[in-house]
Amino acid sequence: MTARLVVLVSGSGTNLQALLDACTDPAYGAEVVAVGADREGIEGLARAERAGIPTFVHKVKDYADRAEWDRALADSVAAHAPDLVVSAGFMKLVGPGFLARFPDRMLNTHPALLPSFPGMHGAADALAYGVKVTGATLFVVDGGVDTGPIVAQTVVPVEDDDTVETLHERIKVAERAMLVESVGRLAREGWRVEGRHVRIGRVH
Ligand code: GRF
Repeated sequence: MTARLVVLVSGSGTNLQALLDACTDPAYGAEVVAVGADREGIEGLARAERAGIPTFVHKVKDYADRAEWDRALADSVAAHAPDLVVSAGFMKLVGPGFLARFPDRMLNTHPALLPSFPGMHGAADALAYGVKVTGATLFVVDGGVDTGPIVAQTVVPVEDDDTVETLHERIKVAERAMLVESVGRLAREGWRVEGRHVRIGRVH
């Protein structure tokens, strides 16, 4: 069975592109069935359109409150019956209503080694702190900010002459490889969440 992925994006969508490329191989075990965004005119949506994948956009400002936006987003995601929802550079937190509809089935990728440097500026915060290694973390989204059970992590060095941009680009190369490898494994082998731990493989 091929796992159905709905991917959420807010920007350039290079993580989405890595998944789209991986999904062209039937042995990968997953397909991107829809791409959602919180804004229009982004390269992430253009990548989906070029791949012939349906898209939807819900902007927070078009809704009376955050809960209504959350419900509309969840309805659009649910319409594509995903096995996994992948937040790939999606710059919004979804609410409890959304998560209740996709329990243990929403992943997020973060450009730092959690629990260090959560939040919007993972690469910049790591650079400012002076760490010698940082990386990226793939985790199952829970109700907190970058607090969910960890699926995978990848480490990259911080170089003496790094800027936020050069560091984030190095992180993103490793982040994309981690995302592709981990989503493929989850899709092919199944997973379950036990407390803080994500166990990959069929339940016996
Ligand atoms: C990634 O580093 C992600 O972790 C962060 O924003 C970046 C998104 O990149 N939140 P892209 O849109 O997939 O190119």
